Amino acid sequence: MKSIEGGFPSHAKFEPTAPGSDYYDPGHFREELEKIWFKTWLLAGRDEEIPNRGDYKTVQVAHESFIITRALSGEVNAFYNVCRHRGSRLCTEAAGHFSKGNIICPYHSWMYNSDTGELAKAPNISDDEEGFNPENHSLVSIKAESWDGFIWINADPDSPSLAESFNLPESWSIYEQYEMQRLKVGKTGTYHVKANWKLLMDNAEECYHCGTIHPELSKATPPMQPRQWVDEEVPDTKVIKHVGSMGLRPGFERVNIDGNAYRPVFPSLSEEDTRKIAYLHIFPHAYICMASDYVFIASIFPVKPDESVVKGYYLFDPDVLEKDDAYIQDAIDFWDATCKEDWAACELAQEGNESRSYQSGGTLTPIDWRVADFKKYVQDELKNN
Ligand code: FES
Ligand SMILES: [Fe+2]
Repeated sequence: MKSIEGGFPSHAKFEPTAPGSDYYDPGHFREELEKIWFKTWLLAGRDEEIPNRGDYKTVQVAHESFIITRALSGEVNAFYNVCRHRGSRLCTEAAGHFSKGNIICPYHSWMYNSDTGELAKAPNISDDEEGFNPENHSLVSIKAESWDGFIWINADPDSPSLAESFNLPESWSIYEQYEMQRLKVGKTGTYHVKANWKLLMDNAEECYHCGTIHPELSKATPPMQPRQWVDEEVPDTKVIKHVGSMGLRPGFERVNIDGNAYRPVFPSLSEEDTRKIAYLHIFPHAYICMASDYVFIASIFPVKPDESVVKGYYLFDPDVLEKDDAYIQDAIDFWDATCKEDWAACELAQEGNESRSYQSGGTLTPIDWRVADFKKYVQDELKNN
């Protein structure tokens, strides 16, 4: 892994945060949904969550819900979770299986082909009925792609491909040694957080808070100020941010609470990288934490202006998961504790951001330079989309 130690980049400086109202105003939230969330590629899950034809999961982004399903061809498709008859939600479960590849509406039983979204049957209505053409009533699809075992969705029909948006495979190449395509989900977690989605990302963009709120993380990987980051030759994009890596404390063998090695390291890692955890952030909502023997992913979704949901995924070597005595709890305990510490801090920040005393916001310090970069990304998207 290419990383350098050093000071802050030249653009790191003191500057104002966004105003407090950006973190609770419903009109601003709605604008962010339209100009950011429904315009960009979102991390919607892992391929192995829907391995077979007809398997599906749903993803909620504020008031919108999307169905993500595996087609007979093996491809992943995604549709708005909305019936074309009178708008009923189609799937109410987080995941499931469409029997015989049919999506059946729970209201009046319109039936759709889960591979294509086409309307297959509308009870008591014949195909040749005047004024009714089934072809005009397919589910509304959105873009879906897979990359390295991850599923991505994009609700903007005019969006560039995932490869173009992410500058793939170059932007990903420094993580190839983790073979994330091969890894499998050993555990998932869901966190409900009473804070605006940007506060969760702001929090992820700095480790200024690590020494204060993360005793476990600070013990395993002592936070360094200034922190390491990957150098300019590594291809960043508008949304892919290489955040570098943090080194293990001497005496620790793994990034977990006690430092003990419960699993072998990933087979392709260099010796040096077995003693690090590498971080990749993907704007607007996700980060991937690559330890030497597991990968933790957090995917943040907005619910309301002052409410978010985080989906956590823990990936492991499939050979490890297959063993009868597989032990993965150390990784889960570590990130579960760290996440809860983060979300509690975000909830406190939400309360303060709603104060009349904070209307014009606060201050970003040079240490918060990645938070400033994220603020700029959000403001640019709102201005340019
Ligand atoms: S709303 Fe879906 S079948 Fe009527
Ligand atoms: Fe944190």
